[in-house]
Amino acid sequence: MDNSSATNPQRLHFGAAFYPEHWPPERWDVDIALMQQAKISVVRMAEFAWSTMEPRPGVYQFDWLETAINKLAEAGIRTVLGTPSAAPPAWLVQIYPDMLAVDENGRRVQFGNRCHYCVTSPEFGAASQKIAKAMAERFGQSPHIIGWQIDNEYNRVCYCPRCQSEFQKFLQLSYGTLDNLNEHWSTAYWSQTYSDWAQIPIPIGPHNPGLMLAFRRFITRAYQNFQKLQIDALRPYLKPDDWITHNFMGWFNAFDHYALNEDLDLASWDWYIGTGRHNYLDSGAVHDLTRGFKRKNFWLMETQPGHVNWKPVNTTLDKNEARAMAYHAIAHGADAILYWQWRSAYGGQEQYHGTLVDQSGQPRPFYNEARRLGKEIERLSPLLAGSEVKARIAILNDYESRWSLEAQPHNANFSYVEHLMSYYRAFASRNIAVDIISADASLQGYRLVVVPALALLDEKRQESLRELTKNNGHLIVTLRTGVKDRHNALLPSRPPGPVLSELTGVEVVEYYALTDPAPIKGNWFDGQSNQWAETLRLLTDRPTPIAHYKAYNGWLDDQPALSMRVASGPVHIYYVGAYFDPAAQQKFIDQVLRFTGIRPIVTPSGVEWSTRQRPDGQDVHFIINHTASIQTVNIPWPSFDHISGQMIRGDVQLGAYAVAIITKEKV
Ligand code: GAL
Repeated sequence: MDNSSATNPQRLHFGAAFYPEHWPPERWDVDIALMQQAKISVVRMAEFAWSTMEPRPGVYQFDWLETAINKLAEAGIRTVLGTPSAAPPAWLVQIYPDMLAVDENGRRVQFGNRCHYCVTSPEFGAASQKIAKAMAERFGQSPHIIGWQIDNEYNRVCYCPRCQSEFQKFLQLSYGTLDNLNEHWSTAYWSQTYSDWAQIPIPIGPHNPGLMLAFRRFITRAYQNFQKLQIDALRPYLKPDDWITHNFMGWFNAFDHYALNEDLDLASWDWYIGTGRHNYLDSGAVHDLTRGFKRKNFWLMETQPGHVNWKPVNTTLDKNEARAMAYHAIAHGADAILYWQWRSAYGGQEQYHGTLVDQSGQPRPFYNEARRLGKEIERLSPLLAGSEVKARIAILNDYESRWSLEAQPHNANFSYVEHLMSYYRAFASRNIAVDIISADASLQGYRLVVVPALALLDEKRQESLRELTKNNGHLIVTLRTGVKDRHNALLPSRPPGPVLSELTGVEVVEYYALTDPAPIKGNWFDGQSNQWAETLRLLTDRPTPIAHYKAYNGWLDDQPALSMRVASGPVHIYYVGAYFDPAAQQKFIDQVLRFTGIRPIVTPSGVEWSTRQRPDGQDVHFIINHTASIQTVNIPWPSFDHISGQMIRGDVQLGAYAVAIITKEKV
């Protein structure tokens, strides 16, 4: 379901996770008054309240929640309701001890933390569906609810015997016959041939690549099924504009996030720094990743009010840093910012986590920063509602390629995400918007697409890249692309596979895992390749070698490391066999950008310039100082700053963590 209120919100939201079940109802009015003062417009509730909502099997207590929803609504605060399946109650576990997940070492997970469930337990699935349905029956038509969150941060992978047999059934459906499976997995290798589905194990540690990839797909499917049970329970009872989401965890890799988002209306994620500072070039990518899940704006469902409680040292964000972070998220497409959590509970595992209100019921110092932000978001909401990030560059992300390379990194230091980030940062440091999207998404309209380490290729992916280049899109294909088929078997061709070889004009002759960097000499830059080096054979006389390896181990010496082919358009198609150091990478990308006509915006290091476009075509620019010192930014045209309410132009000073939100005209 495409939900227009999620895509084109009437307003931006600001809020917190609120747990009224921790407090006597008499107290709620005080909290709500404090929320009102901070201009909180939404709270998320109930996602861990199963034992309060259903204290005994089938006995529901929802009156307290209805009272809370209504009281909040009277104060103008809307509600997002969470289904409570991340916190299955003790009575349920007592009835179905077998619903507790089993870890990789065969140990049953203990009750009393969260997500202790086995996602394939039918009894647990049914109980989750039942409580979700009961909530929907009671609250589905409430005018005060705008959306629903299913569960909380899916994360558990279970290794119980039921999961194994479910995995075997999944394989049977996927492969049809054992002969087919045996062939795709090359099971004659090490005598792994299966003659009965029941022989197939769940991979613990390293295993057959086909089996390992299939297991990840199975986990994805298991969560899809589990999530669907709840979506089906909710949907018939909800109002047409209500959306359903789940709060994901950024680059978490246990399942395919694109698959899970297909059944959701809105993507959301939980952003925690933990300790120290965030690098905005890195955090921007996670916002962009989440925006890419549904290819539209998203919610920041949780973020840190000052400090967390789960790091060795739980340092506090600098004053005003959380505010800058909130604008950073909005600049990348967030339509809501919610802090976790409103008030510190007396007990439970998170007593020392940051909150807006402390255990005594008084606002913490951070509350004032939140209040300022709440007021600003309320004021800026008409300016920003419905605006979106418009990126002309896409970086393709693929969970299956990532799993494949994580299982067989060949160089233990090689990280799929870090390699992808080496491209992202080179664009982000030039203040250029990037979409991070599924490798199976449509590439229509992009001026440049980067394909980093897309190990798994199929025909559809190759054709989509061919189409891109025909439609005036430049293309960068990087190392480790086009090595495998969708079963995680080596393709019977040299990388990057027939179609990409035709497009790039090269094939990869050999790959080398490096301990020491290999020096590189290029037409546009000198530098080095870290961790990895591929030697390229130029297939035709059309591609130009742009960089070569210098003397290294004899094998690499003088071999092409980077090629460029100019195809009609003209579009430029690159194959990058090296993993450039950051300075060389920047020079490479700067040159690529020149050919595309996409212009960088120059800001001092640590200062971000990002843009959202309003439905009326007006650009709203976010200039964010992510540093703790004053920075000078050049604003090239007379602009109205919606934060200070003043016209600004030329060299403008931004204080520590300060933000300017400008439009060319006063909107
Ligand atoms: C999140 C979780 C929240 C809270 C928070 C603390 O992962 O969804 O419920 O525990 O961490 O940082």
